[in-house]
Amino acid sequence: MCGIVGYVGSQSALDVVLAGLKRLEYRGYDSAGVAVAADGGLAAAKKAGKLVNLEKALVDRPLPTGSSGIGHTRWATHGGPTDANAHPHLDNAGRVAVVHNGIIENFAALRDELAERGHRLDSETDTEVVAHLLAEEYSACADLAESMRLVCRRLDGAFTLVAVHADEPDVVVGARRNSPLVVGVGEGESFLASDVSAFIAHTRSAIELGQDQVVELRRDGVTVTDFAGNPADVRTFHIDWDASAAEKGGYDYFMLKEIAEQPKAVADTLLGRIDAAGSLTLDELRISDAELREVDKVVIVACGTAFHAGLIAKYAIEHWTRIPCEVELASEFRYRDPILAARTLVVAISQSGETMDTLMALRHAREQGSKVLAICNTNGSTIPRESDAVLYTHAGPEIAVASTKAFLTQLVACYLVALYLGQVRGTKWGDEIHAVIRELAQIAGQVEQVLETMEPVRELARSLADRNTVLFLGRHVGYPVALEGALKLKELAYMHAEGFAAGELKHGPIALIEKGVPVVVVVPSPRGRSVLHDKIVSNIQEIRARGARTIVIAEVGDEAVVPYADHLIRVPATPTLLQPLVATVPLQVFACELATARGNEVDQPRNLAKSVTVE
Ligand code: M6R
Repeated sequence: MCGIVGYVGSQSALDVVLAGLKRLEYRGYDSAGVAVAADGGLAAAKKAGKLVNLEKALVDRPLPTGSSGIGHTRWATHGGPTDANAHPHLDNAGRVAVVHNGIIENFAALRDELAERGHRLDSETDTEVVAHLLAEEYSACADLAESMRLVCRRLDGAFTLVAVHADEPDVVVGARRNSPLVVGVGEGESFLASDVSAFIAHTRSAIELGQDQVVELRRDGVTVTDFAGNPADVRTFHIDWDASAAEKGGYDYFMLKEIAEQPKAVADTLLGRIDAAGSLTLDELRISDAELREVDKVVIVACGTAFHAGLIAKYAIEHWTRIPCEVELASEFRYRDPILAARTLVVAISQSGETMDTLMALRHAREQGSKVLAICNTNGSTIPRESDAVLYTHAGPEIAVASTKAFLTQLVACYLVALYLGQVRGTKWGDEIHAVIRELAQIAGQVEQVLETMEPVRELARSLADRNTVLFLGRHVGYPVALEGALKLKELAYMHAEGFAAGELKHGPIALIEKGVPVVVVVPSPRGRSVLHDKIVSNIQEIRARGARTIVIAEVGDEAVVPYADHLIRVPATPTLLQPLVATVPLQVFACELATARGNEVDQPRNLAKSVTVE
């Protein structure tokens, strides 16, 4: 969702801010704007559409070079994506400019109040009131940070605000409640951004901002307080990836790069979590083994792809630990009064660590006295900070909106949590755990093998570019894989795509099957749980008899599916529970290629944002 950048230093603020906004494009947006403090005033430009429109406007009407500036990419909520609604918003005198991410819930009342006092508001946004309120406060105290604190105390809702004032050209002020904001500390320069990718080219030293904090940025450092002005403790962290990790590196799309990075991401997520004896050591968990032994229910909350990872985790957790596990869409969770207690372990899965629905779900769980374990990919983000414990996935930055490598690493982390629970509770023998870990250790190589054989999948995708519907079927852990395959196709190819549990077919969905409808079927291993395998082979026959074009994903050596597969995609043999790690990869490639063939934006699909920071 909205991307924010702020800069104070000796470089051209406009250049730094624009480059930062480019790095934040992946978050999803529909207008963009900048403001710089220069020549005793403020200069601003903003345009609907992509950054290129703003850049063109800046060529036609260049802004002066200033040493402090702010920028914004807006994902419209209040008011359409127009020039007028784009940020920054300025007060009537044009002395203060503000950008905002989030929603100010009491903006209508504030707007009426301001109008009564003679302010003229020009946009339909909730943000504009902040510029006017800041101007009023500033006229009384002549201090931008203090003005921001005073204004924030009057705002309801979730917001990140960043402002600059013509009278303080060497200062940028930011405030944060719920929406993300990170500070970058450089040599003689300071940065603010929605995430670190905006300033990673300049510094790898960052500070997490906490809830309800205001930061004042100057060249020589930053000051952080709460909304009342009390100094706040700051936690500095080092960003352990560099600028190249957030670049395409020769690929046409970030998504292709991120699909290709999966073997490394999987291996990195296992790294350092297995000791010399082959046992799991999740030292960073911060929940004691004694507490984990007391857990009598696991509840997983997540959204989208992370929710699908949670659905797969349920099979592993219940099978390996015998603890009941529920998986719930985070957006539904707190509204249905879920049964939570001190012995419930809530697992919140999120790539970005900023998804508002997941954040609200975990807050609700903690209020009910449950412990929350976050599985997260983003250091410095809100969800891990507000959880009792965190297990980081080591996927590196995921830029494409469609989640790929984050999903595989979330699965690895979920397996590790399940195994660890089994280890501390003694529901799995040490040698059983070691056996699974050995299998997990091979997955990176197996994903690599899948990636090497994807040309027929790409060809197949291209041949289906004119279709309207693709269905996906799976059983057991293959069912969430089917859901994930369908989600990828919806978001990237804008096609009607649905995933079903294959056993549900005869209860309704089979009516959708007609001649030529492509149906992707995820087939479990014939080894071990062969009853599952046999049942899905019957399902394939049922849909084929009704004209479906079957696209079968089956493990190497499974000959039983051959007669019924119009297209056969082979994946390496893995234990059933781990199969999603290899079976999902062809579905990612399939969706990416279909999107390309249909001429869609692969990395930034329409209407979508990378991290959904409003409910
Ligand atoms: O950052 P999160 O993992 O919390 O994001 C959750 C979903 O918004 C995300 O997985 C979304 O569904 C992806 N675009 C799917 O590819």
